[in-house]
Amino acid sequence: MTQLEFLKKFKRLKPSELGCFCISLCFILCLFFLDYRSVSRGFRVRGWFGFSGSGSGSGRELVGFLETGRGECNIFDGNWVWDERYPLYESKDCLLLDDGFRCSENGRIDRFYTKWRWQPKYCNLPRFDAVTMLERLRNRRLVFVGDSIGRNQWESLLCLLSTAVSNKSSIYEVNGRPITKHTGFLVFKFADFNCTIEYYRAPYLVLQSRPPAGSPKEVRTTLKLDQMDWFAGKWKGADVIVFNTGHWWNSEKTTREGGDWKSGGSCHLETLPDLSSSPVSSGAMFFPNIFGSVLSERQNESAFIAKLELLDVTYMSSKRKDGHASLYYLGPDAGGPAPLRRQDCSHWCLPGVPDSWNELLYAVFLKHEYSIAATASAPSSIDLE
Ligand SMILES: *[C@@H]1O[C@H](CO)[C@@H](O)[C@H](O)[C@H]1NC(C)=O
Ligand SMILES: *[C@@H]1O[C@H](CO)[C@@H](O)[C@H](O)[C@H]1NC(C)=O
Ligand SMILES: *[C@@H]1O[C@H](CO)[C@@H](O)[C@H](O)[C@H]1NC(C)=O
Repeated sequence: MTQLEFLKKFKRLKPSELGCFCISLCFILCLFFLDYRSVSRGFRVRGWFGFSGSGSGSGRELVGFLETGRGECNIFDGNWVWDERYPLYESKDCLLLDDGFRCSENGRIDRFYTKWRWQPKYCNLPRFDAVTMLERLRNRRLVFVGDSIGRNQWESLLCLLSTAVSNKSSIYEVNGRPITKHTGFLVFKFADFNCTIEYYRAPYLVLQSRPPAGSPKEVRTTLKLDQMDWFAGKWKGADVIVFNTGHWWNSEKTTREGGDWKSGGSCHLETLPDLSSSPVSSGAMFFPNIFGSVLSERQNESAFIAKLELLDVTYMSSKRKDGHASLYYLGPDAGGPAPLRRQDCSHWCLPGVPDSWNELLYAVFLKHEYSIAATASAPSSIDLE
């Protein structure tokens, strides 16, 4: 698809299709830059197959995602199920969180939204294990690039991983910057594992800059669709990159700049997910379709395709209007919730929905490691039990 067609499609999208909360999640994808040798060294299959147990509640025994062959189970198709073992952490125990995501500390009383687990229809996800993830990330870099929704996911992962570390001062920002700093980038190191979990703010992914000289004065900014963001040099050498974008590709953001996500929506009365099995809307399929067409255009480049995954969290998130920060994004100094007219129906409370995105990231990450190790090792040396 050419850039022009891409833009035309954007123009055709009605604001209602963009939705207030889900479209920016459409396009989270991971690029795996893996060092094959270091993955195959010291690799053990046994120990990865910890399942989340009870399955969908239908009485069916579901196979674990890591046991299925590649592509046999679509983990993005499923339902939210109540699970008393959730949430996986409490925000008050996690120092690595912006105030904006600390809903319960900011006055949100209902806790139901922390209790839902994503259950794929035809398989089980592995239960998130922070130690396993950190061990697999030893001496490596995991990088998030995108907008504040990506930052939401990044902070969720920091909290999930930090549950496995008892000495909290061994997790620190390498430049000493506080997590509340909202621009640029942040690099958190888990010293015991010599790994970094990094976030680079790049809402468009591509390069945003000043208009060329002589442009009409309505033109406030330009986006160079064939050049990556200014920070792109810093992502080089990362072992895993999680990109997200979408939320800023609408007329409010591109023509008016800095459109306000804190107004116009209403989600503060939502306390339950949508538990129906409604189909995915066509608007929600916009980014996955683009991704699919790019992949099919380049399908003969197997080395390229093998390293890409679409982490398609749109459908699952579209059922969670109860999970937003709504009125509860103002920190302790604000003295209470935000006014009704200034709701945040874009970002998500933590713990909450982004934890489930990271459970999927975890599953996809392990599956990748597994398939690489399986091709790198002699079959007889792998214990698949
Ligand atoms: C720590 O990890 C980095 C990669 O992120 C690597 O270059 C470096 O050699 C590692 N240090 C040690 C002591 O293993
Ligand atoms: C905790 O981690 C910090 C930073 O790595 C280190 O200086 C300190 O000695 C650690 N404390 C304990 C009790 O291990
Ligand atoms: C993939 O196929 C296209 C034509 O369909 C060709 O131009 C291109 O060179 C191929 N790429 C590789 C890596 O084989």
